Amino acid sequence: MINTNNTTEIQNSKTGKTVRESEGETTLVMLPSDANPLGNVFGGIILKHVDLIAGLVAKRHAGHANIVTASMDSMTFAKPVYIGNALILKARINYVKRSSMEVEVNIEAEDLNKSQKVLTGTAYVTLVALDEKGKPIEVPKLILQNIEEEERFLEGENRMQTRLKNREIKKRQKEN
Ligand SMILES: CC(C)(COP(=O)(O)OP(=O)(O)OC[C@H]1O[C@@H](n2cnc3c(N)ncnc32)[C@H](O)[C@@H]1OP(=O)(O)O)[C@@H](O)C(=O)NCCC(=O)NCCS
Repeated sequence: MINTNNTTEIQNSKTGKTVRESEGETTLVMLPSDANPLGNVFGGIILKHVDLIAGLVAKRHAGHANIVTASMDSMTFAKPVYIGNALILKARINYVKRSSMEVEVNIEAEDLNKSQKVLTGTAYVTLVALDEKGKPIEVPKLILQNIEEEERFLEGENRMQTRLKNREIKKRQKEN
Protein backbone atom coordinates (compact mmCIF):
# COMPACT_ATOMS: atom_id res chain seq x y z
CA MET A 1 0.00 0.00 0.00
CA ILE A 2 1.56 3.27 -1.06
CA ASN A 3 1.28 6.75 0.38
CA THR A 4 -2.05 8.46 0.29
CA ASN A 5 -3.33 11.98 0.89
CA ASN A 6 -5.55 10.73 3.66
CA THR A 7 -3.03 9.00 5.89
CA THR A 8 -4.92 9.62 9.14
CA GLU A 9 -7.98 7.86 7.86
CA ILE A 10 -5.95 4.86 6.75
CA GLN A 11 -3.93 4.81 9.99
CA ASN A 12 -7.18 4.37 11.86
CA SER A 13 -8.24 1.53 9.62
CA LYS A 14 -7.79 -1.98 10.98
CA THR A 15 -6.38 -3.19 7.66
CA GLY A 16 -3.02 -1.43 7.89
CA LYS A 17 -0.32 -0.11 10.19
CA THR A 18 2.42 2.41 9.60
CA VAL A 19 6.14 1.67 9.87
CA ARG A 20 6.37 4.02 12.86
CA GLU A 21 3.74 2.14 14.83
CA SER A 22 5.99 -0.88 15.23
CA GLU A 23 9.57 0.43 15.13
CA GLY A 24 11.79 -0.20 18.13
CA GLU A 25 15.16 0.65 19.66
CA THR A 26 17.13 -0.95 22.46
CA THR A 27 20.44 -0.14 24.17
CA LEU A 28 22.40 -2.69 26.19
CA VAL A 29 25.78 -2.40 27.90
CA MET A 30 28.01 -5.31 26.92
CA LEU A 31 29.40 -7.30 29.85
CA PRO A 32 32.36 -9.71 30.20
CA SER A 33 29.95 -12.67 29.98
CA ASP A 34 29.01 -11.47 26.44
CA ALA A 35 32.56 -11.57 25.11
CA ASN A 36 35.67 -13.63 24.39
CA PRO A 37 38.82 -13.30 26.59
CA LEU A 38 40.11 -10.41 24.45
CA GLY A 39 36.93 -8.40 24.96
CA ASN A 40 35.21 -8.87 21.60
CA VAL A 41 31.48 -9.46 21.96
CA PHE A 42 30.36 -12.78 20.43
CA GLY A 43 28.42 -12.53 17.16
CA GLY A 44 25.88 -14.96 18.60
CA ILE A 45 25.10 -12.58 21.48
CA ILE A 46 24.46 -9.75 19.02
CA LEU A 47 22.28 -12.02 16.84
CA LYS A 48 20.23 -13.05 19.87
CA HIS A 49 19.39 -9.40 20.56
CA VAL A 50 18.74 -8.79 16.85
CA ASP A 51 16.28 -11.69 16.82
CA LEU A 52 14.57 -10.40 19.98
CA ILE A 53 14.02 -6.86 18.74
CA ALA A 54 12.97 -8.05 15.26
CA GLY A 55 10.39 -10.30 16.95
CA LEU A 56 9.13 -7.38 19.04
CA VAL A 57 8.68 -5.17 15.96
CA ALA A 58 6.91 -7.95 14.06
CA LYS A 59 4.66 -8.63 17.05
CA ARG A 60 3.74 -4.94 17.29
CA HIS A 61 2.81 -4.99 13.63
CA ALA A 62 0.97 -8.30 13.63
CA GLY A 63 -0.87 -7.90 16.94
CA HIS A 64 -2.54 -11.08 18.16
CA ALA A 65 -0.38 -13.79 16.59
CA ASN A 66 2.53 -16.01 17.44
CA ILE A 67 5.67 -14.72 15.75
CA VAL A 68 8.48 -17.02 14.59
CA THR A 69 11.71 -16.26 12.80
CA ALA A 70 11.72 -17.89 9.36
CA SER A 71 15.13 -16.66 8.23
CA MET A 72 17.93 -14.23 8.81
CA ASP A 73 19.95 -13.08 5.80
CA SER A 74 23.68 -13.65 5.91
CA MET A 75 25.39 -10.70 7.54
CA THR A 76 28.83 -9.26 8.19
CA PHE A 77 30.13 -7.64 11.35
CA ALA A 78 32.11 -4.75 9.85
CA LYS A 79 33.28 -3.29 13.18
CA PRO A 80 33.88 -4.97 16.55
CA VAL A 81 31.77 -4.47 19.67
CA TYR A 82 33.73 -4.54 22.95
CA ILE A 83 32.97 -5.12 26.61
CA GLY A 84 31.74 -1.81 28.06
CA ASN A 85 30.33 -0.61 24.72
CA ALA A 86 26.67 0.16 24.41
CA LEU A 87 25.05 -2.05 21.78
CA ILE A 88 22.31 -0.02 20.09
CA LEU A 89 19.78 -1.81 17.91
CA LYS A 90 17.29 0.10 15.77
CA ALA A 91 14.60 -2.00 14.10
CA ARG A 92 11.81 -1.27 11.64
CA ILE A 93 9.58 -3.10 9.21
CA ASN A 94 10.51 -2.67 5.56
CA TYR A 95 8.17 -5.07 3.84
CA VAL A 96 5.05 -7.10 4.51
CA LYS A 97 3.87 -9.92 2.24
CA ARG A 98 0.93 -11.95 3.61
CA SER A 99 1.98 -13.68 6.82
CA SER A 100 5.65 -12.75 6.47
CA MET A 101 7.42 -9.52 7.37
CA GLU A 102 10.94 -8.28 6.71
CA VAL A 103 12.43 -6.38 9.66
CA GLU A 104 15.68 -4.44 9.24
CA VAL A 105 17.90 -4.11 12.29
CA ASN A 106 20.77 -1.61 12.32
CA ILE A 107 23.48 -2.52 14.81
CA GLU A 108 25.62 0.21 16.34
CA ALA A 109 28.41 0.07 18.92
CA GLU A 110 28.93 3.11 21.12
CA ASP A 111 32.23 3.74 22.89
CA LEU A 112 30.85 5.38 26.01
CA ASN A 113 34.24 6.85 27.03
CA LYS A 114 34.59 8.70 23.72
CA SER A 115 30.87 9.20 22.96
CA GLN A 116 31.51 7.68 19.52
CA LYS A 117 29.08 5.44 17.63
CA VAL A 118 29.93 3.14 14.72
CA LEU A 119 27.64 1.08 12.50
CA THR A 120 28.62 -2.56 13.02
CA GLY A 121 26.18 -4.18 10.62
CA THR A 122 22.66 -4.50 9.29
CA ALA A 123 20.49 -7.58 9.65
CA TYR A 124 17.41 -8.49 7.62
CA VAL A 125 15.12 -10.83 9.50
CA THR A 126 12.02 -12.51 8.09
CA LEU A 127 9.33 -13.30 10.62
CA VAL A 128 6.07 -15.13 10.11
CA ALA A 129 2.79 -14.72 12.01
CA LEU A 130 1.08 -17.95 13.05
CA ASP A 131 -2.35 -18.66 14.50
CA GLU A 132 -3.00 -20.89 17.56
CA LYS A 133 -2.71 -23.97 15.35
CA GLY A 134 0.64 -22.92 13.93
CA LYS A 135 -0.82 -21.93 10.54
CA PRO A 136 0.54 -18.78 8.83
CA ILE A 137 -2.01 -15.93 9.03
CA GLU A 138 -2.34 -12.64 7.24
CA VAL A 139 -0.97 -9.57 9.03
CA PRO A 140 -1.98 -5.91 8.55
CA LYS A 141 -0.78 -4.24 5.35
CA LEU A 142 2.08 -1.78 5.65
CA ILE A 143 1.07 1.87 5.25
CA LEU A 144 3.89 3.74 3.54
CA GLN A 145 4.04 7.43 4.37
CA ASN A 146 6.94 8.76 2.32
CA ILE A 147 9.22 7.99 -0.62
CA GLU A 148 11.93 6.50 1.62
CA GLU A 149 9.44 3.96 2.99
CA GLU A 150 8.25 3.16 -0.54
CA GLU A 151 11.85 2.54 -1.63
CA ARG A 152 12.55 0.37 1.41
CA PHE A 153 9.39 -1.60 0.68
CA LEU A 154 10.47 -2.30 -2.92
CA GLU A 155 13.98 -3.26 -1.83
CA GLY A 156 12.48 -5.56 0.80
CA GLU A 157 10.25 -7.12 -1.84
CA ASN A 158 13.28 -7.81 -4.06
CA ARG A 159 15.19 -9.40 -1.18
CA MET A 160 12.15 -11.52 -0.31
CA GLN A 161 11.93 -12.80 -3.91
CA THR A 162 15.61 -13.77 -3.75
CA ARG A 163 15.10 -15.55 -0.40
CA LEU A 164 12.14 -17.50 -1.70
CA LYS A 165 13.98 -18.45 -4.89
CA ASN A 166 16.89 -19.73 -2.78
CA ARG A 167 14.44 -21.63 -0.59
CA GLU A 168 12.98 -23.33 -3.69
CA ILE A 169 16.45 -24.22 -5.00
CA LYS A 170 17.39 -25.79 -1.65
CA LYS A 171 14.10 -27.71 -1.54
CA ARG A 172 14.69 -29.14 -5.02
CA GLN A 173 18.29 -30.06 -4.16
CA LYS A 174 17.03 -32.01 -1.13
CA GLU A 175 14.46 -33.85 -3.27
CA ASN A 176 17.08 -34.97 -5.79
C1 LIG B 1 8.44 -20.28 9.01
C2 LIG B 1 7.42 -21.41 8.84
C3 LIG B 1 6.19 -21.09 9.70
C4 LIG B 1 7.02 -21.46 7.36
O1 LIG B 1 6.14 -22.53 7.26
P1 LIG B 1 5.73 -23.18 5.84
O2 LIG B 1 5.04 -24.42 6.09
O3 LIG B 1 6.93 -23.16 4.96
O4 LIG B 1 4.64 -22.18 5.39
P2 LIG B 1 4.45 -21.43 4.01
O5 LIG B 1 5.23 -22.03 2.89
O6 LIG B 1 2.99 -21.25 3.87
O7 LIG B 1 5.10 -20.01 4.33
C5 LIG B 1 4.49 -19.08 5.19
C6 LIG B 1 5.13 -17.74 4.93
O8 LIG B 1 6.50 -17.80 5.32
C7 LIG B 1 7.32 -17.38 4.27
N1 LIG B 1 8.57 -18.13 4.36
C8 LIG B 1 8.70 -19.45 4.59
N2 LIG B 1 10.02 -19.76 4.62
C9 LIG B 1 10.70 -18.64 4.42
C10 LIG B 1 12.09 -18.30 4.33
N3 LIG B 1 13.03 -19.23 4.45
N4 LIG B 1 12.44 -17.01 4.13
C11 LIG B 1 11.50 -16.06 4.00
N5 LIG B 1 10.17 -16.30 4.06
C12 LIG B 1 9.78 -17.57 4.26
C13 LIG B 1 6.52 -17.72 3.01
O9 LIG B 1 6.95 -16.94 1.89
C14 LIG B 1 5.12 -17.35 3.46
O10 LIG B 1 5.00 -15.93 3.42
P3 LIG B 1 3.61 -15.20 3.00
O11 LIG B 1 2.50 -15.81 3.82
O12 LIG B 1 3.85 -13.78 3.38
O13 LIG B 1 3.43 -15.41 1.54
C15 LIG B 1 8.01 -22.79 9.27
O14 LIG B 1 9.06 -23.12 8.41
C16 LIG B 1 8.46 -22.84 10.71
O15 LIG B 1 7.66 -22.95 11.62
N6 LIG B 1 9.79 -22.74 10.92
C17 LIG B 1 10.34 -22.74 12.27
C18 LIG B 1 10.29 -21.34 12.86
C19 LIG B 1 11.00 -21.26 14.17
O16 LIG B 1 10.77 -22.04 15.05
N7 LIG B 1 11.90 -20.28 14.28
C20 LIG B 1 12.69 -20.12 15.45
C21 LIG B 1 14.10 -20.50 15.21
S1 LIG B 1 14.35 -22.25 15.19
